[in-house]
Amino acid sequence: MTSQTDAVGGKYDQFAQAGTTEALGGNIHAGYWDSGAEHVPMAAATDRLTDLVGERLALRPGDRVLDVGCGNGFPAMRIAGTHDVHVTGITVSQQEVDRATELAAGSDRVAFRLADAASLPGDLGTFDAVFAIESLLHLPDQASALARLRRLVRPGGRLVVADLCQREPFTGAGEAVLAGMIRTLEIAGINSELEHRASLQKAGWDLLELLDIGENVRPSYEQAAAAFRRIADSAPPFAAADIITAAELMAAFGENPSSGYVLITARRP
Ligand SMILES: C[S@@+](CC[C@H](N)C(=O)[O-])C[C@H]1O[C@@H](n2cnc3c(N)ncnc32)[C@H](O)[C@@H]1O
Repeated sequence: MTSQTDAVGGKYDQFAQAGTTEALGGNIHAGYWDSGAEHVPMAAATDRLTDLVGERLALRPGDRVLDVGCGNGFPAMRIAGTHDVHVTGITVSQQEVDRATELAAGSDRVAFRLADAASLPGDLGTFDAVFAIESLLHLPDQASALARLRRLVRPGGRLVVADLCQREPFTGAGEAVLAGMIRTLEIAGINSELEHRASLQKAGWDLLELLDIGENVRPSYEQAAAAFRRIADSAPPFAAADIITAAELMAAFGENPSSGYVLITARRP
């Protein structure tokens, strides 16, 4: 692990201990709402996003799948159960490994370990498919990481990425919001759609589909901000200030029309 990934892991450890995951309903990612379905609660909407990722992996029963940046294990568990596959989840947060392992207790299809996507351990194995939900934005060199992941996936196997994106460069007040997100959430950067495409191409993946689902996920930011504000008072002192700052930044990010969200499907040639 590098000092950069230690910092990311430390941040997720801190947020896990402060109860942010429970506040979000388990998953640590955006929800997806079909238009007119705003009444659907956040936990169901985040599962819906996981389902959109799972559907695009083109899985067959028994397949081996890698979850890059697995959080507390909710997406891996859901995809393993829905598609009857084996999932290995990696994260740089020991707190998350512990929580995910507890969640998967008794399952012989899902396992979690501490590992850095920027420096993958040699004994991880090979996979039929890989997915990354809101984790690539923490990596300073996404193209190199995506190239290493490609080498772990069989020819024809899929990669699905769900991640934030900038539709237009954030300017004015938006620039400060972006800088705050980068600092507070230990993000390396938020790509434009073109940067996402370029990283995939450089890493040798064939792009099959790139959707901007920014409007479907937009309610997430205000809901996540509200959930963070609710727990801020009872959060441990080492995390309280960051939780309040993160809440305000997420709300502002969601209000900015330049904030998009990509759902990318690619294939190993
Ligand atoms: C926003 S959370 C998403 C968690 C999970 N994918 C979900 O949707 O619930 C980002 C995740 O990426 C992980 N992560 C960040 N940098 C990483 C790296 N270099 N290698 C592996 N995981 C990383 C974090 O530890 C965290 O689990």
